[in-house]
Amino acid sequence: MEVYLDNNATTKIDPLVFEEMKPFLTDVYGNPNSLHKFGAGTHKKMAEALDYLYEGINANDADDIVITANATESINTVIKGIWIDKILNGEKKHIITTEVEHPATTAACKFLESQGVAVTYLSVNEEGVIEAQDVKNAIKEETALVSVMWANNETGKIFPIKEIGAICKEAGVPFHTDGTQAIGKIPVDVQACNVDYMSFSAHKFHGPKGVGGLYIRKGFKLTPLLHGGEQMGGNRAGTVDVASMVGMGLAMKLATSPMALAYEENHVRKLRDKLEAAILEMPETIVIGGTSNRTPNTTLISIRGVEGESMLWDLNQNLIGASTGSACASEDLEANPVMNAFGSDSELAHTGVRFSLSRFNTEEEIDFAIEQIKKAIIRLRGISSSYAYAPASHASGL
Ligand SMILES: Cc1ncc(COP(=O)(O)O)c(C=O)c1O
Repeated sequence: MEVYLDNNATTKIDPLVFEEMKPFLTDVYGNPNSLHKFGAGTHKKMAEALDYLYEGINANDADDIVITANATESINTVIKGIWIDKILNGEKKHIITTEVEHPATTAACKFLESQGVAVTYLSVNEEGVIEAQDVKNAIKEETALVSVMWANNETGKIFPIKEIGAICKEAGVPFHTDGTQAIGKIPVDVQACNVDYMSFSAHKFHGPKGVGGLYIRKGFKLTPLLHGGEQMGGNRAGTVDVASMVGMGLAMKLATSPMALAYEENHVRKLRDKLEAAILEMPETIVIGGTSNRTPNTTLISIRGVEGESMLWDLNQNLIGASTGSACASEDLEANPVMNAFGSDSELAHTGVRFSLSRFNTEEEIDFAIEQIKKAIIRLRGISSSYAYAPASHASGL
């Protein structure tokens, strides 16, 4: 049996989504900007896809959703757009983000820092989230943007987006959230949360790879990253990949329906909890950041004495796909910044394994995975030179 438990990295395309895309990869190939019937044949489905995107995140009709290549592009569009529009002209000079963002945000912020922009990286508390009050305290007169992810890709921890949105609105500071790991897992409502910009990628919610979106609240238009034709109202030039856009639309509809979200909340959560509880039966295992307030599909577990990379290798031999919370391939390389953000000791920082489920996982798969994971832990601890003798230094305090 093969078991895929790396859905925060990417998801399997829903077969219904693939069927919806097919005509636009074969017969309906006209450029949507052409005036003839070949191009016009795409318009109805593109409009329908946009409707699904608006509905899925509860955008207002007057707002914009720009189709991009992925969340990375959307995030860069916001951060660099704010830089061009508000910072380069001397109006503002400060950005607030967190220490645990995806590299798309962190690297864009680091680039801005290299250009002289001041960036505040808020740290997470012992539960792995930032406090809304910290955002309030960090906002200054010169703050041009607050960018905080909705849910963390490693821990699944859900950030207080509604409170942060209210704080930003009151302070008059534009608020961007990286919604990549939230959509399809928990309800996402950009209006209720006063979000001004939101980035997302279709392949995280059973849509195709290579397509994403950027929600822009009415009145918050940015200088685009890509200049060229007038596609997307001039907000993102380049011929639209119609098949991918149509696929993303349906994927959004399927992933955000009340029934789908209830399935995540109940069924996927139950499977995740079963997997997690079984691993925690093994001694000296802990859930990084604790178990409260997480997306229903994710668990990041530290297994003392078991290097994350070795665990992945072992699981891969048994056809289980997971991910390491550690970005290291050898001891010299840096551990995951998310782990470091907890103030973890360096051993803990290298022992995280992330399991992320989806609606396509079955109980049978989880039972098989549990069996294999437990065997792998015993095997790897058996050959670990440090495990048998070292004191359980990190077993508490997180
Ligand atoms: C939270 C978060 N933001 C952004 C991204 C970037 O997504 P993409 O690679 O599709 O641009 C990811 C991907 O893992 C993510 O988890």
